[in-house]
This record gives sequence, C-alpha cells and structure tokens, in this order.
Amino acid sequence: MGLRSVIKGVGGYLPQNVVTNADLEKRVDTSDEWVFQRTGIKQRHIAAENETTSMMATKAALDALSHAKMDINQIDAIIVATTTPDRTFPATAVHVQAALGMAHGFAFDVQAVCSGFVYALSVADGMIRSGQVKNILVLGAEKMSSILDWDDRTTCVLFADGAGGVILSGEESDGGILSTHLHSNGEFKDMLYTDGGASTTASTGVIKMQGRDVFKYAVTYLAEVVDEVLTHHNLQPEALDWLVPHQANIRIIEATAKKLEMSMDKVVTTVQDHGNTSAASIPLALNTAVKDGRIKRGDLILTEAMGGGFTWGAALIRY
Ligand code: ACO
Repeated sequence: MGLRSVIKGVGGYLPQNVVTNADLEKRVDTSDEWVFQRTGIKQRHIAAENETTSMMATKAALDALSHAKMDINQIDAIIVATTTPDRTFPATAVHVQAALGMAHGFAFDVQAVCSGFVYALSVADGMIRSGQVKNILVLGAEKMSSILDWDDRTTCVLFADGAGGVILSGEESDGGILSTHLHSNGEFKDMLYTDGGASTTASTGVIKMQGRDVFKYAVTYLAEVVDEVLTHHNLQPEALDWLVPHQANIRIIEATAKKLEMSMDKVVTTVQDHGNTSAASIPLALNTAVKDGRIKRGDLILTEAMGGGFTWGAALIRY
C-alpha cells in the first residue's frame, strides 16, 4: 500500500459527424479496401467547423465526472493532452476549466502528440504521489481534422477527432497507476510533424509524415517499452488482463500484441470506428471498454503510445 493515483471515472466524447472510407473516396484517390487493409480504419468522427478541442474535452470531462459520481468542486487540477489547441495560448485546459465553471485550482496542457495522454498520466501521477493535488482530471482531446491536408491521401484517411479522459484520485491503495515510462528522441522530429507553427510560419501547418518509417519505428519502440514495463514489475505477459494501445493502425497494434503473446480478444481496439485521434485515442478506448463492461475493477491494464517527436511511452494500471 502507498499513495497511488486511482482511476475514479472515465469519460469520452465523439463528434456526431461520421465519415466513412467510402465518403473519403469521393474526396481523394483512395479506396475502402486500401484504407482498411493498411490501417484497420473503417470510419472516423470529424468535428463540426465551430466545434473546438476544448468543447470536446469539456464533454468528455462531464462524462468522466458523472461516471466517478464527482463534482467539479472536488477537482484540484485539469491537464489536457492536445496537439490541436483552441488557441496558441492560453492553454486548452483553461478553456475547459472555464467551461466547467471551475475558478479554483490550476489547469495546463501537455503536448506530446499521440503519446500525450500517457505523458499527461505520468505528470498527474507525479503530482498526486507528491501530495500536491488529490483529484486531477486528465484529458486527451484533439481536432486533428483542422491540421490535415484534405487533399493528401497519405494522411487525411488516418486522423480524426474526439476527446476522452479519466479522473485520478490520490488514495492509499495497491492499485491505480503502478508505473509510467516515457521516452522521446528528437532525432526523428522530421518524420512526423506539421509544416508550420507559431514561431516559424505563424500558422498551424498541416501533418506531414513518412508513413513507412513511422510504422517501422512504432513497432520497434512499442515492443521495447512494453518489455521495459514487464521487466520493471517482473511480470509475465500472461499477468495482463488488457492491452489498451494508442489507436493508430491495427497492424501496429497486432505487432505489439504478438510481442506480448496476447490474443486480440484481450486488446481493446477502436481504430476501426474512431481512426487515429492522437492524444484522445487511449482514453476513448479505455472509456469504451469500461462502459461496455469488458474492463472490470481489479483488472491489470497495459497502455502504450507512440507519436511525433518521436515520443513514446507506457503505463501499467490496476483499474
Ligand atoms: N489510398 C490509396 N493509396 C494510397 C493511400 C491512400 N489513402 N495513401 C498512400 N497510398 C499509396 C502510396 O502513394 C503508394 O503508392 P506507390 O506505391 O504508387 O508510390 C502506396 O499506396 C504504398 O504507400 P506506403 O506509404 O508505402 O504504404 P504503407 O503500406 O506503408 O501504408 C500507412 C501507409 C498506412 C500510412 C502506414 O505506413 C502506416 O500506418 N504508418 C504508420 C503511420 C501512423 O500510424 N502514423 C500515425 C501517427 S504515429 C502513431 O500514431 C504511431
């Protein structure tokens, strides 16, 4: 037993507008078959033009509060992992704070692209364990559709919008977040990036990616980081109840499952329905599997992600 960050509630939000691969066939030279075979994606949710990242994050936050049966007054801090902020500043998290009517505590963003949620979990866990806060809302929210080149078939078929999150509470427990493991290597900063930014082009830019290389490194680094988690805890893969991976590509997910010798029925996959929602993908997948009853209290969950930077990481959680 010790002071641990326990997940009290999970939440999610997906925009109403569903865009199928067939819909994209009308826009770029692609096919449902190509997209599904290469990525596992069938459809994705795309935000309305006037729907911002903070609006989606706020809806996910309300869902998580309701699931935890908690009130916003009990929350000490909000962290939003996002790469598509409402504005360059202030942080999307303070937009969420205002929308939730929270005038106390503090709120800030974390930016680690698709690994953002794992990074945010790690930061929140450190704050809880050090006694700085008791209850934190940790959100991943993205409007990736706003940084896509909709004429570029190599990227526009992959990414999507949505938000998810968890409420972490500091409790004496032997469960909760057991460890987090973060990595980055800026040598790869030009393999997956936007071709703009505040201090370069004074605009956001759009996503550029060397897909084949990203795929190769994702498989390698994710295999390494799941090994790191198992070794750290002296665990065999059989001890895991669930793998909740970042949802970028079913083939990357299958490669990690294979490395862990886990059957795919112990892997939560939402990529077919959600596409790649970057920092929102893990909490959305967690929300899906908790709410449909697959993930139960006491289950041991390994979650992992890799994204632009490259950044990558993992967390081991006793739900
Ligand atoms: N529809 C049809 N054809 C396409 C499309 C499309 N949407 N996109 C590319 N192609 C074509 C290419 O032009 C190329 O044609 P060519 O052979 O005539 O030049 C052909 O398909 C093969 O292209 P590749 O890029 O080599 O295809 P690959 O099998 O590598 O699949 C993919 C591409 C799906 C992007 C894959 O590399 C991948 O998933 N990489 C990981 C990227 C990723 O997930 N990034 C997300 C962020 S990082 C993360 O979250 C892990």
